[in-house]
Amino acid sequence: MVSPRPRISPRLGTPLSPSATRVLLLGSGELGKEVTIALQRLGVEVIAVDRYADAPGHQVAHRTHVIDMGDPEAVLAVIEAERPHLVVPEIEAIATDALATVEQRGLAEVIPTARATQLTMNREGIRRLAAEELGLPTSPYRFANSLDEVRVVTEAIGFPCVIKPVMSSSGKGQSTVRSADDLNAAWEYALAGGRINHGTVIVEGFVDFDYEITQLTVRAVGESGEVETYFCEPIGHLQRDGDYVESWQPQPMSDAALARAREVAAAVTGALGGRGVFGVELFVKGDEVYFSEVSPRPHDTGLVTMGSQRYSEFELHARAILGLPVDVEQLRPGASAVIYGELDAPGIAFDGVAEALRTPETDVRLFGKPESFLRRRMGVAVSTGPDVHTARERATRAASLVRPVAP
Ligand SMILES: Nc1ncnc2c1ncn2[C@@H]1O[C@H](COP(=O)(O)OP(=O)(O)OP(=O)(O)O)[C@@H](O)[C@H]1O
Ligand SMILES: [Mg+2]
Repeated sequence: MVSPRPRISPRLGTPLSPSATRVLLLGSGELGKEVTIALQRLGVEVIAVDRYADAPGHQVAHRTHVIDMGDPEAVLAVIEAERPHLVVPEIEAIATDALATVEQRGLAEVIPTARATQLTMNREGIRRLAAEELGLPTSPYRFANSLDEVRVVTEAIGFPCVIKPVMSSSGKGQSTVRSADDLNAAWEYALAGGRINHGTVIVEGFVDFDYEITQLTVRAVGESGEVETYFCEPIGHLQRDGDYVESWQPQPMSDAALARAREVAAAVTGALGGRGVFGVELFVKGDEVYFSEVSPRPHDTGLVTMGSQRYSEFELHARAILGLPVDVEQLRPGASAVIYGELDAPGIAFDGVAEALRTPETDVRLFGKPESFLRRRMGVAVSTGPDVHTARERATRAASLVRPVAP
């Protein structure tokens, strides 16, 4: 006997009581922490799950669990024990088969859908959907399962090309290859950097874009009672070694490019379905827009919306998943700049926060990660200003004033 799925309704309950609206987060990093805070403000009971104790989201949730999120048994067990109304993945590296089981058994609603989490955790799934089923423009690409196959497909793609493990994020295992001499190293690097030693890579033609954006796209219940699609102002960003270092909103774009970006974003998010925020990553060259990838959840470059929008992407996600209306208005140009750990140590401290906060229209968020690594994102500075240029200057200055120090 399958017990009926606890359905989400626009009625919100009291946390820790029988009426509670319960949300379980799979992944509780800095993005999950902000989603949790947004849900807490609506009186939602939040259960935060991560692979290590005292993750940022753990520190603000009602209950916490530490599990191996790649283990389907462990994922199912925590969902069966907690019986949340909604399961909200915050990261890609989850046993998504377990989420499909949760959906099939009607145990909980998976945000946005189990299929969306399956398709987007593997570059092959989302690329084939976008390029082959939806016919959207992307970089030219081929898949390869061995160094020999890589050699063959790069002939077709040409140089420079980008080689990435199909299962990886934050630029792990990814390299740009300029000649056949570098293929061996790129293949080894991809094998080592893949999440699961899957041994499959995507070889992408290098897109010589003018700029890249994240088109935050929200699928939420509209006035009609049906799910409608809403677009935030485009977010520009700067990537270094596969990690974002700075983002800003709005990214100036031609009307044609913006319209195209939204068409592409609507097509991809519509095909994935469900409710919530999606971060659609796009490359723009002139008026041409190329789909790169999509997160079916808030996006790290969207941290800027904590300053620039009336409701941040995290508040929008909270509302959308609960079936509540959204408002994507941007209030002021904004920017975010990442604060890195700069040292390998547990329990580090931060100096210079007061100086950073003397910057006009600037806020600093420290995520509270228990352990710092050289290149681990430990916090972010978020600024606004009369224009994007000023906002960027403020955010990068503030971030540079915060100094991680050994305790
Ligand atoms: N085909 C390409 N042509 C040009 N630049 C590319 C290409 N693919 C990736 N890049 C650059 O590398 C960055 C990271 O690539 P991608 O988003 O595919 O990797 P990722 O590991 O999923 O990163 P993240 O998890 O941070 O989004 C892109 O934002 C872009 O700047
Ligand atoms: Mg990306």
